[in-house]
Amino acid sequence: MCGIVGAVLREGSVLEGLLEGLRALEYRGYDSAGVAVGADGGVSIRRQAGRLEALESVLADGALEGARIGIGHTRWATHGPPTEINAHPHTDGGGRVALVHNGIIENYLELREELCGQGVEFLSATDTEVLAQLVGRELAAGAALVDAVRSTLARVRGYYAIAALAIDDDRALVCARQGPPLCLAVVAGGAFLASDPLALVRHTHELVFLEDGDVATLSPGSYAVVDAAGEKAERPAVEVELDEEQAGRGAFAHFMLKEIHEQPDVLARTAFDRIDEVEGDVRFTEEGWDAECLRSFDRVQLLACGTARYACQVAAFQLEGLAGIPADVDYASEFRYRSPRLSERTLALAISQSGETADTLAALRLARELGARAGAICNVPESSLVRAADCFLMTRAGPEIGVASTKAFVSQIVTSYLLSVAAGRARGNLDAGEGRALLEELRLLRPRLAQLLSRETHARIAEIAERHHEVKGFMFLGRGIHYPVALEGALKLKEISYMHAEGYPAGEMKHGPIALVEPGMTTVVIANKGPLAEKVRSNLEQVRARGGQVICVGSDAPSLALADEAVEIPETSPWLAPILSVAPLQLLAYEIALRRGCDIDKPRNLAKSVTVE
Ligand code: AGP
Repeated sequence: MCGIVGAVLREGSVLEGLLEGLRALEYRGYDSAGVAVGADGGVSIRRQAGRLEALESVLADGALEGARIGIGHTRWATHGPPTEINAHPHTDGGGRVALVHNGIIENYLELREELCGQGVEFLSATDTEVLAQLVGRELAAGAALVDAVRSTLARVRGYYAIAALAIDDDRALVCARQGPPLCLAVVAGGAFLASDPLALVRHTHELVFLEDGDVATLSPGSYAVVDAAGEKAERPAVEVELDEEQAGRGAFAHFMLKEIHEQPDVLARTAFDRIDEVEGDVRFTEEGWDAECLRSFDRVQLLACGTARYACQVAAFQLEGLAGIPADVDYASEFRYRSPRLSERTLALAISQSGETADTLAALRLARELGARAGAICNVPESSLVRAADCFLMTRAGPEIGVASTKAFVSQIVTSYLLSVAAGRARGNLDAGEGRALLEELRLLRPRLAQLLSRETHARIAEIAERHHEVKGFMFLGRGIHYPVALEGALKLKEISYMHAEGYPAGEMKHGPIALVEPGMTTVVIANKGPLAEKVRSNLEQVRARGGQVICVGSDAPSLALADEAVEIPETSPWLAPILSVAPLQLLAYEIALRRGCDIDKPRNLAKSVTVE
């Protein structure tokens, strides 16, 4: 995700403050950075690809010193490579406005085509430049900056946090929010905005948090907000308990918790601008996934380690169910030492958050040597895995700092779902109507996931953790597409709480693991509505009949009623249901580890990326 800062001062130079704000957002990861300042009726912009210090070195000439209004941005590329021309801030053709943006404009292509048809020439490959061009046209027609921004956003579909300043209005800084956070700090000497409180607490701990649909105008010592309906809105400041040493965690106690709560936004960023609603299809910007290519495979061999391998197992269900393609999954560390039989019609698909896992890299290289096409689903564009692949899809989860993978897992499943729909449409396994229905389910998933991460649900899970954080061990049971979720839930728990936890297919329980069941042993059962519900319910009853405590996570009401502890999840497409069933398990692992005093972000013996065998 990108970082945004802005400031307007009563006096003095805004530049150093902008850079300090960008440094506070450094944890977000960036591949370019830029600032724009307004002074003497003009806007000056400096942008640089690469690290923040590259921008600081070009600013050392002092040319931008002295301006009292400015905006800044650190970019995590989603549209267009991380080059200077794609770095923010962006302007319109006439240089009337400078604008920075965090998020994705889903309908940017149609707006861009419309503007090109009217003679507008775009310089970058970004969705953001479309916003700058539209605001610039409104300014040219005489609109004030706040009105130009509002009428532009009325035409936009997507989610965004933006900030803009205009040439001939160099005292007004305007910002808007729809999705990603945006907050303000207003003090006598000036007004400040940022995409993260971390960049503002040095001014004051009294911060204003904009709501979705808000557009705010900032002036030195004051601010005004209009809501989505265009009505004046009161957004009082709130006290924020935050110090800069929490850099990067924002207001969260741990990166893992922050990343769990980022998941609804990650889902949107991973998927929404890849959805073609009209055709009921998927559009990837990455090369090598066109319909002809998707028809050329007769099987998929999925390869990964750890959490990513559980995402592979979910992906196998999606590929077989939606695209009708046979799919196999193997641990990368095992695959390497088998005698795998692949062909040029095999897609070897490696999944990895870091793109640096040694076993996964080696397995993909072996698959390619054996004739397969080497594909990758990865979160780091410049990683070794992406460079080694013939074709890749980015998960766009943003930097995942917590060693225990959470948002990366969800983004991997979303990406494989999109790939499965695309392949299903290309191979005639899905018609346009089925495609549209499946993609609509993806849109509806974000509020459902956000609901599962609400304070109320989290509090209930914390109470469950309180009762189970000292039991002798855990078993996680799931069937079908929820079996890999059971494995992931067990891995999350063991990774950060150091408790013994095993994941099993629920149908396997009677073939041995049931011997583990006794009072003081907790079993987590994932029980969703559907053809397997009754079978899972009977597994749950068998555990309870032997004195084992049961935590049930799912949408099957009878199972939830039978359990000692219940966390209900909303219904969704069966192919996406793991994204909802895993969320409570992530929070359960977090709350148990918290009570056991473990180092949640840096668990013992682990590393974020296992770059050795
Ligand atoms: C997951 O929580 C663990 N950190 C670990 O299993 C991880 O998923 C595995 O090492 C694979 O990492 P990768 O996705 O970066 O390849």
